Amino acid sequence: MARDKTVYSCGECGATSPKWQGQCPGCGAWNTLTETRAVGSGPGAPRFAGLAPTSAPRVLADIEAREADRVPTGVGEFDRALGGGLVAGGVTLIGGDPGIGKSTLLLQALAGLSATRRVLYVSGEESGEQVAMRARRLALETRALPLFAEINLEQILAVLARERPDVAVIDSIQTLWSDALASAPGSVAQVRECAAQLTRLAKQTGISILLVGHVTKEGALAGPRVLEHIVDTVLYFEGDTHSAFRLIRAVKNRFGAVNEIGVFAMTERGLKGVSNPSALFLPSRSQAAPGAAVLVAQEGTRPLLVEIQALVDPAHGNPRRLTVGLDAQRLAMLLAVLHRHAGVVCFDQDVFVNAVGGVRIIEPAADLAVTLAIVSSLANRPLPQKLVVFGEIGLTGEIRPAPRGQERLREAAKLGFTRALIPAANAPKQPIEGMETIAVARVEEAVARLRD
Ligand code: TYD
Ligand code: MG
Repeated sequence: MARDKTVYSCGECGATSPKWQGQCPGCGAWNTLTETRAVGSGPGAPRFAGLAPTSAPRVLADIEAREADRVPTGVGEFDRALGGGLVAGGVTLIGGDPGIGKSTLLLQALAGLSATRRVLYVSGEESGEQVAMRARRLALETRALPLFAEINLEQILAVLARERPDVAVIDSIQTLWSDALASAPGSVAQVRECAAQLTRLAKQTGISILLVGHVTKEGALAGPRVLEHIVDTVLYFEGDTHSAFRLIRAVKNRFGAVNEIGVFAMTERGLKGVSNPSALFLPSRSQAAPGAAVLVAQEGTRPLLVEIQALVDPAHGNPRRLTVGLDAQRLAMLLAVLHRHAGVVCFDQDVFVNAVGGVRIIEPAADLAVTLAIVSSLANRPLPQKLVVFGEIGLTGEIRPAPRGQERLREAAKLGFTRALIPAANAPKQPIEGMETIAVARVEEAVARLRD
């Protein structure tokens, strides 16, 4: 078969060039040209068919809008992150570090689905024997679970179109390659092309496709990031591969809410859902330590208590600011606010901040906990025992309310915490049993409260 014509197009400005160059001829940016198939060069059918069967415009009122039917996978925490389950014709990307449990989760989900739906597991990473061995170890029912070990996109598309499963897993998108491009599997061009073709097939046939994408060492390049705009739903695995807990978070969902998380524990028998995870990220020690503050975070619809740790230590040379699981830019801002409004000086100190357990905290309601952990470490004095904290800090030093404050307080009380330092606007109207609340309006007030 004659190879289709390929061109090199710039990721910045879209200019094309017939051959690869280091610098884009259009905008002059460096290293932005990637190989793509020339539009209109493919034989026969157009490459990107429309999503609707008719091509004439119609008014929205005439289009029957149905709530998308959800197919629960049977793995409860996975369904929670998906917003209830899979959608026919929907494409879901599952990203995460190698070894975090993507293949394990999807094998478990497919085995469960295979009882009532037609499924197909396409493996480009592991041989049939390897997958079968894992399924046996996990004691999964595999009688209705077919496996196709293949990495050629055209072969996979043909099999999917012929077999028409309800749900298919592609593990992983980085191992696939298309005949249409000359570049190697895993390159940006291949990953994009393969995902686009699979998405088109999903929309045309109603197959629900789950794509596995490894987060690469280099970060964005050729990783799942380049696919986020193509697919309907993006889920990322979080968690420290050294700890047993795994979080799966929806960062994009065309069919449901984002930032809902599912929580799992990796066990001998695969991933087990943790239905009540609020206390997972708390330390087991009974003594409070300097530099530790317990944050009541809200992840999706569930409160989650997480210990935030800070270490403030004299800097030798350029002071360093390092965060794990928290936003580094935000830390720089909090240090400036702390200096300006509360007179706490850290410019000659290294500041390290960590959210315990590999969990990633993105909500601004973590500000107060981060700030107090820093103050506690700098003063080398632990925060009061059984204290929880939440609240956002603004640039003028004001403390802003966090959403769902009452729910956070109730959950903390349930877990045995007796005091809460919270934004004034979150002060409960009726007292919460067993919980003393200290409401503060400004950052200097919060810091002063710790000194007495
Ligand atoms: P895997 O699903 O292969 O990760 P990914 O597909 O994201 O690369 O998970 C591999 C890890 O999980 C591996 O380190 C072993 C561990 N594991 C368990 O602890 N228990 C199990 O039952 C299974 C199947 C894997
Ligand atoms: Mg895998």
